[in-house]
Amino acid sequence: MSSMNKGNGLRIEPIDQSEDIIQAFDCVCEAFGRQAQDGVWIAMTPGWETSAGRSLGAARMVGRWRDITKDKNGKPNTIFLKATLPSPQQENKRIIAGFAIWVQASSVAGFGDPAVKEEELCDVMNLEEIYPGNKAEQRYLCQTVASLHRQRAEVIKAKSTADPPAVMILDLCAVDPTHQRKGIARALVQWGLDEAQRRGDLEAITEASAMGRHVYGQMGFVPQGSEIEYLVDEEFASRSRPSNIFMRTRGSLA
Ligand SMILES: CC(C)(COP(=O)(O)OP(=O)(O)OC[C@H]1O[C@@H](n2cnc3c(N)ncnc32)[C@H](O)[C@@H]1OP(=O)(O)O)[C@@H](O)C(=O)NCCC(=O)NCCS
Repeated sequence: MSSMNKGNGLRIEPIDQSEDIIQAFDCVCEAFGRQAQDGVWIAMTPGWETSAGRSLGAARMVGRWRDITKDKNGKPNTIFLKATLPSPQQENKRIIAGFAIWVQASSVAGFGDPAVKEEELCDVMNLEEIYPGNKAEQRYLCQTVASLHRQRAEVIKAKSTADPPAVMILDLCAVDPTHQRKGIARALVQWGLDEAQRRGDLEAITEASAMGRHVYGQMGFVPQGSEIEYLVDEEFASRSRPSNIFMRTRGSLA
């Protein structure tokens, strides 16, 4: 797996130890929780602003990292990427300033992880663990995530006849607000685009937040359709949900 250095000492590398996920999770909390106040991410990470809630969220992410599957070539279907900078305080130490998750997905066995069906979301996201006994909250999250991922699921299905029958999904990208606008997201995205190329010239897709779309639009991603519509029950209608648009690198070609 590759890494790269930039003028400011930025390095992009796949994560290979759980301690890094725990540190990276702090970037995610600061970016999605404190800065963007992303309603869907916050619903998925209750208590993120407390140390207990943060530890639980980080532990769930470590669990996801431990459960990574491989494709038929032995490549991981999910890559947790860290962006590190030299620590200003400690010589020879590095800090995690950004984090991304890339997923190779496919509806054909051996070519990537399949799209998750709405009825499976509750189990896959461990919602009983996040909201024990709270069926309404679990239902809300299933509805929002299913809405958010509707177009990605359609593309995964459409790619079943492509060669290879897979896509690379930018599943998450977050940069610590104190290190934004230094080209870190651009480097995390470029790593994934290069990896997609190495894996057989795969198309890349993502759901882009109001902040993220500025970066992705400069890197070959094109918006598809208008704002993603969240189909949720009436009782949840007034909740705040983030603006997202679906973007892909090859327009409408399957
Ligand atoms: C979106 C995010 C990942 C961007 O990270 P970043 O490291 O600051 O982005 P980069 O420095 O690589 O930006 C590259 C270019 O994209 C554009 N860009 C990035 N963030 C922007 C913003 N908030 N507004 C307008 N343009 C922006 C700029 O052109 C920038 O180049 P410049 O700084 O030289 O002008 C970061 O703001 C973040 O974590 N936001 C909160 C969580 C989130 O929304 N994540 C994305 C989910 S899809």
